[in-house]
Amino acid sequence: MLVRVDLNVPLRDGAVADDTRIRAALPTIALLRAAGARIALCSHLGRPQGRDAALSLAPVARRLAELVGTEIALAMDSVGDEVSRLVHALSPGQIVLLENVRFHPEEERNDPLFAKALAAPFELYVNDAFGAAHRAHASTEGVARILPAYAGLLLERELAVLGALLYRPARPFLAIVGGAKVSSKLAVLQALLERVDTIAIGGGMANTFLAATGHPIGRSLSEPDQMPAAERLLDAAERAAKAVLLPMDVVVAPSVDAAGALRAQVVAAGGVPADVAIVDIGPRTLELYAGAIAAAKTIFWNGPVGVFEISEFAQGTRAIARFLAAATARGATTVVGGGESVQAIQEAGLAAQMTHVSTGGGASLELIEGRTLPGVAAIPDL
Ligand code: 3PG
Repeated sequence: MLVRVDLNVPLRDGAVADDTRIRAALPTIALLRAAGARIALCSHLGRPQGRDAALSLAPVARRLAELVGTEIALAMDSVGDEVSRLVHALSPGQIVLLENVRFHPEEERNDPLFAKALAAPFELYVNDAFGAAHRAHASTEGVARILPAYAGLLLERELAVLGALLYRPARPFLAIVGGAKVSSKLAVLQALLERVDTIAIGGGMANTFLAATGHPIGRSLSEPDQMPAAERLLDAAERAAKAVLLPMDVVVAPSVDAAGALRAQVVAAGGVPADVAIVDIGPRTLELYAGAIAAAKTIFWNGPVGVFEISEFAQGTRAIARFLAAATARGATTVVGGGESVQAIQEAGLAAQMTHVSTGGGASLELIEGRTLPGVAAIPDL
């Protein structure tokens, strides 16, 4: 059977730098092996323009073999005679990994002939690639229209947890939304506003909100063209009696780098000097957000609250990760979605202390926005 997984993992020096997504695929692989399936795993890696040795799944095949504890052959392609031969030679429980499916531009075009070629050696299709479910590609959508299609355990769990968050959250429900840009999170903020009781905002996008409420933001990253949208969101929140928490104090620095960190200081949100940039939330803000976390029964977090790539400016983000771990321990439901907040949780070693860490960045946001995920819509039972 063809099993679409999301093995799109970061690589460093020709090896897998973070195997979270590989581990997340293991339960379905184990279940299918135990049932005696002959398994061809299919995934993309990065965004290649044609065949690109740097984006071969070879390092992933090695890590996967270690984790599964069996040999895993890597096919040279995702379609064609060699794939058919390898698949037909599989014994029950054996696995072959197909090479990066995006080496074919037809994959992203969801080309029907390519989907047919992908499906050709198989009788069944299982989709466990939640992280790619928002893409209408041949391996996520096209093949599901050709073969009998089923969801894997990870895809099911992601949909169950994120669905429960949206439709049956224990209240109070708090969302913490950070990241650089309001523009990329506007739709998700609007969707969350309808569902949560409180939204706490941080990161670069908070600067646009601060500017929209008349605060000087110095040389901080912001999106002036998004200020009207930020204002509208704040008005909508007020009308709906929802609380939107913005930073009360912030860490500012003359430059957003390690040198700037040496001259960083905390100022009130209304008192940002003209020649500095906001790089993190301040201690009073952290206290405010910690209070909201302590009061909440459901917490969704997406996006760092500071420039967390620079260690000195990651304190707010790390503290949020610790508060969330404490919230899980006292029985709250904590869900982390999206690339960088997940990375922050991993780096803090706190992933296991969350109720759920989503393997989908874009996919989890699109789900929360209420959009149909093509990879999910193509599976009859979901
Ligand atoms: C992800 O990393 O979010 C998924 O694997 C999807 O990758 P893409 O954004 O390149 O489609």
